[in-house]
Amino acid sequence: MTDGYPILAVNHLVAAFDTEAGRVRAVNDVSFSLEAGTILGLVGESGCGKSVTALSIMRLLPRPTGIIESGSIRLNDTDLVKLAPDQMQRIRGRRIGMIFQEPMTALNPVHRIGRQLVEVFALHRPDVDAGQRVQEAVALLSHVGIPEARARMDEYPHQISGGMRQRVMIAMALAGKPDVLIADEPTTALDVTIQAQILELILDLQKETGMAVLFITHALGVIAQICQDVAVMYAGQIVESAPVTALFKDPRHPYTQGLLTSMPRLSSENKSTLPIIQGTVPSLSQLPPGCLGPLFFTGTLGVPIGDGSEKRKAASCGKPKDGFSHPRRCAAKKGGAGACGGRCFANCGTR
Ligand SMILES: Nc1ncnc2c1ncn2[C@@H]1O[C@H](COP(=O)(O)OP(=O)(O)O)[C@@H](O)[C@H]1O
Ligand SMILES: [Mg+2]
Repeated sequence: MTDGYPILAVNHLVAAFDTEAGRVRAVNDVSFSLEAGTILGLVGESGCGKSVTALSIMRLLPRPTGIIESGSIRLNDTDLVKLAPDQMQRIRGRRIGMIFQEPMTALNPVHRIGRQLVEVFALHRPDVDAGQRVQEAVALLSHVGIPEARARMDEYPHQISGGMRQRVMIAMALAGKPDVLIADEPTTALDVTIQAQILELILDLQKETGMAVLFITHALGVIAQICQDVAVMYAGQIVESAPVTALFKDPRHPYTQGLLTSMPRLSSENKSTLPIIQGTVPSLSQLPPGCLGPLFFTGTLGVPIGDGSEKRKAASCGKPKDGFSHPRRCAAKKGGAGACGGRCFANCGTR
C-alpha cells in the first residue's frame, strides 16, 4: 500500500447493540490498518456501520447497549479495547481526535466557542498556560479559516454558520495535536462549496501535521479526491479494500462495482437515468452467520449481480461460506484464501 507504518490497527472488530430483537452486530469482523501520514477512506451506504466503527475506536459507543464484543484496536502497541475508562480519556483528543458528522452534537450550545476551545487546550495540553491557551485558540481558529477569529471566540455555536461550526470542530479535534484524526462524514451536512473548502482544509492540515486520517463518507467522489487507500463497507463488514487508484480502475467486489456505476459522471452519455443498486441493505438482526460475500452473487442481500456466471464462479471457489469474504477474487485466481493479492483485509487472512 503506502510507505507509512501502521499507527492504528483494527483487527476482527465486532461491535454490537443489545436491542429488543436481540443482539445486533453493527460491525462484524472488521479489520483495517491506518498508516502514519496517509488518509484511509471508509465508504459505504447509510447504516453499514461506519460510525459504529469510529465510535468503537474512540470507545464512545452508547451505553449500556453498545459493546465491543471482540477484536482489538491497536494504537501503536496499546490495545484500546482493553484500556480502563480513565486511560482511554487520555487517548481521546490527545492521541486520536474526532470530527463528528453533526457539529452540534459535539459543541455545547450554551458555551461560547472560545471557552470550549480553551477547555480542550486545558485538558490535553497542560503545558500551555491560561493566557497562551487563549492565544493558541485564536490562532487555531484562524488556521482553520475562521475570519475575525478573536471576535468569534465570544460567539455561541448557533450564531455561526454550519460551515464555520464544522471548522470549529476541526479546530477542537486538532487542538490536542493527535496522531490520528477520525473524520466521520465531516462534510455531509454542508453545501458543496463549503464541502470543497473543508476537504481542502483537512488535506492541508493532514499534510502539515503528518497525522493519519480515517475519513468516513458515503461518497466515493470524495474518497477519490483525498484518500490513498479505501475500504468499502457493507452491512457491518469490509467487503473490499485497496489503494484508491486500483479500486477505481478495477473494483473487484460486486457491491463496489455497484457503487462505482451509480456515481454520477459528467461524461455519462445517458444523462437521464443513473444505475442504481437494487434492493435494500438487509436487517442486521437477520444476517446469516459467516461472511456476506457469496450472498452478493445470489442477490440474497438485495444486490442481484451479473447473469449467474458470477454465482458459478463463487461456487467454483469451493471454499466454505465462513472461510472467505471475496469469492469473486478468490474464484478468479482459483486460489481461495490468500489469492486476493493483498487487497482483502477480512476473513481471507491476507494483507
Ligand atoms: N444506539 C444504537 N442502538 C441500536 N442499533 C444501533 C445504534 N446505533 C447504530 N445502530 C445500528 O448500527 C448500524 C450501523 O450504524 P452506523 O454505524 O451509524 O451506520 P453508518 O454507516 O451510516 O455510520 C445501523 O444498522 C444502526 O441501526
Ligand atoms: Mg454514520
